Amino acid sequence: MQSPKYTARAHTNIALIKYWGKLDQDLIIPMNSSLSLTLDKFYTDTSVFFDSTLKQDIFRLNNKESSSLKVTHFMKVLREKTGETRFAMINSENHVPSAAGLASSASAFAALALAASRAAGLVLDSRSLSRLARRGSGSATRSIYGGFVEWQQGSDDATSYAVPFEENVAWDLSMIAVVISAKQKKISSSVGMQRVVATSPYYSAWRKTAAQDLAAMKKAIKKRDFRQVGTIAEENAMKMHALNASAHPHFSYFEPASLQVMKIVADLRSNGIFCYYTLDAGPNVKIICQNKDIQTILAALAPSFSQERLVVAGPGPGVKLIDKP
Ligand code: DP6
Repeated sequence: MQSPKYTARAHTNIALIKYWGKLDQDLIIPMNSSLSLTLDKFYTDTSVFFDSTLKQDIFRLNNKESSSLKVTHFMKVLREKTGETRFAMINSENHVPSAAGLASSASAFAALALAASRAAGLVLDSRSLSRLARRGSGSATRSIYGGFVEWQQGSDDATSYAVPFEENVAWDLSMIAVVISAKQKKISSSVGMQRVVATSPYYSAWRKTAAQDLAAMKKAIKKRDFRQVGTIAEENAMKMHALNASAHPHFSYFEPASLQVMKIVADLRSNGIFCYYTLDAGPNVKIICQNKDIQTILAALAPSFSQERLVVAGPGPGVKLIDKP
């Protein structure tokens, strides 16, 4: 017997205040609250149905059979929560323009949470959906909503979820993603943050500063103060990467080309073009900018990066069903 098939679309998000460290590994309760912007250009479409003839979950990614421990674990959690006993057929497609390297677990688990819960017969409200997506990947907690989203850390499964901060971003803010490498990262976010929590002597300072950065960021967004938003985001990202540099053994996600982009951005800024950078657990750089400056910034990057490595994105929407029975 087969369940009805549901298909969901979720967009990825870029954290302006980073989540970096877990209080609880299994439940994915973070050490600090975070805040992100959901982006329009990068998304995942996932369809799910349950089938009593399957002996295990089947996961296809971009039309190729795949295996993912994270997906297997997530489906186990989902079955426990919903009482569904059958295995699932899961089809996922990542929509990432050209050179790739920006696919993220955020859009993947937000889409899977919606499609799989509906296929299992459960209609969850956004908060419950955010809590469920969190069990797949921390950053997925935030991809339930569009625009600016805050993940309130909470202290347990019931209290750790995202809330919309400003869903319809009706002001001038864009991101240019500079794709430096599409390769799988050597140190996953999970491993990186675990090492930092266990060994960085600066971890307690990070928790304190992240809370202050978050409060300042929320004020800056409310005032639509672009320069403040950019400055706080860039500084917060660098503090996160400083944790990695201070871990034992220390590590870094930067590639030489990442530093090159950071320098181009700093030079543009000294010439009065206000733009800022942020990096996650990988070498790709995202430049936060205003629409009027996009062409100037692209021109400054053009000598070093081909066109397909530069993707301009704007604020995007929350998760939704795009196909149902
Ligand atoms: C640097 O959500 O990928 O992008 O919860 O272990 O799956 P897991 O980690 P993940 O970590 C994201 C880290 C980050 C910052 C952020 O998105 O807040």
